Amino acid sequence: MRVLVTGGAGFIGSHIVRTLASAGHEPVVLDALLPSAHGPAGSSASAAGDLPPGVRTVVADVRDGAAVAGALSGIDAVCHQAAMVGLGKDFADAPEYVGCNDLGTAVLLAEMAAAGVQGLVLAGSMVVYGEGRYDCPRHGYVRPGPRAVADLDAGRFEPRCPACGAELVPGLVTEAAAGDPRNVYAVTKLAQEHLAAAWTRATGGRAVALRYHNVYGPGMPRDTPYAGVASFFRSALARGEAPQVFEDGGQRRDFVHVRDVAAANAVALAVLGERGPGTFDAYNTGSGTPHTIGEMACALAAAHGGPAPVVTGEYRLGDVRHVTADSRRLREELGWKPETDFAEGMQEFALAPLRNTGRTDG
Ligand SMILES: NC(=O)c1ccc[n+]([C@@H]2O[C@H](COP(=O)([O-])OP(=O)(O)OC[C@H]3O[C@@H](n4cnc5c(N)ncnc54)[C@H](O)[C@@H]3O)[C@@H](O)[C@H]2O)c1
Ligand SMILES: [Zn+2]
Repeated sequence: MRVLVTGGAGFIGSHIVRTLASAGHEPVVLDALLPSAHGPAGSSASAAGDLPPGVRTVVADVRDGAAVAGALSGIDAVCHQAAMVGLGKDFADAPEYVGCNDLGTAVLLAEMAAAGVQGLVLAGSMVVYGEGRYDCPRHGYVRPGPRAVADLDAGRFEPRCPACGAELVPGLVTEAAAGDPRNVYAVTKLAQEHLAAAWTRATGGRAVALRYHNVYGPGMPRDTPYAGVASFFRSALARGEAPQVFEDGGQRRDFVHVRDVAAANAVALAVLGERGPGTFDAYNTGSGTPHTIGEMACALAAAHGGPAPVVTGEYRLGDVRHVTADSRRLREELGWKPETDFAEGMQEFALAPLRNTGRTDG
């Protein structure tokens, strides 16, 4: 299959490109080499270093319809990874997030419709769920709203039952949970899904969204305001500093290895042809074994041989307390199985190279 991988020079995209190439497919990369992801010198050299030799790479923005149309020539399906990621610096980043992620997706889908390309695998995200799933001893399944600044300032990090204020038990979110995005990035990831679903209905296309949990592994970008927490900790250790753990370190996440995510994309691409026209399906993509942020920091520090993590009590507005996926549907329907467990994956990640983002100190 000839697959256009947008964002193919990025962290996850470059692993997908390698996975597809080694399975005998022909990946073609389209990537703008954004400075926020690749550093100000974001040159084709940084991308080429991460990609297998001979992979055609188009350096272009997904918002550039003519460039996308050219890249789609002869393509069987699109694996859409290109996006601005992370929380960003501040609200001034909002137009760029919406531009890259939503306008970019709309341009891509319009060009796919024009070119008659009917298969799409979309990089979704668990951020679409907001706070994860909770149960109150009295009220059952509840969905707490955003945490109050006064609570966070006072170190009360656990969300409470919106009806009675009781402590809650965090659980696993299924694909049936309603969207509840809590920051600009999350809004753009949810909108990408809605655009993809609208495209399937309008064109008879077939789309699968993989809602990734916290992806980590070799080639993760060095820490920038756009990076994930595993990269912050790993970059601190590379500088010989202790990882700074926000809140009390008890935030629960599901850390899924980037090679497993690449394999999930390959499986999703393979089933597109079996789907009926006009179908959109979303799958949570996590390891199935949640851990706390504090556990992740400790595992990395121990494996790296660096200073023990420091719990700072700081917080970021827009962060959610717990969110953990139920990824059973992906296992059961698509036969995907994560191969790298937490201990083994963190051991490797603690010493694996990070991608250069223009920072020289980490
Ligand atoms: N890393 C995670 O934990 C995680 C979790 C959930 C979802 N995701 C999603 O996975 C996808 C890949 O993320 P990543 O972690 O590899 O990030 P990344 O920044 O390493 O890769 C994204 C790539 O997309 C490119 N890009 C961004 N905007 C573009 C545009 N307008 N036109 C062309 N190229 C553009 C960037 O240059 C970069 O190479 C994203 O869609 C992201 O939302 C990532
Ligand atoms: Zn209650």
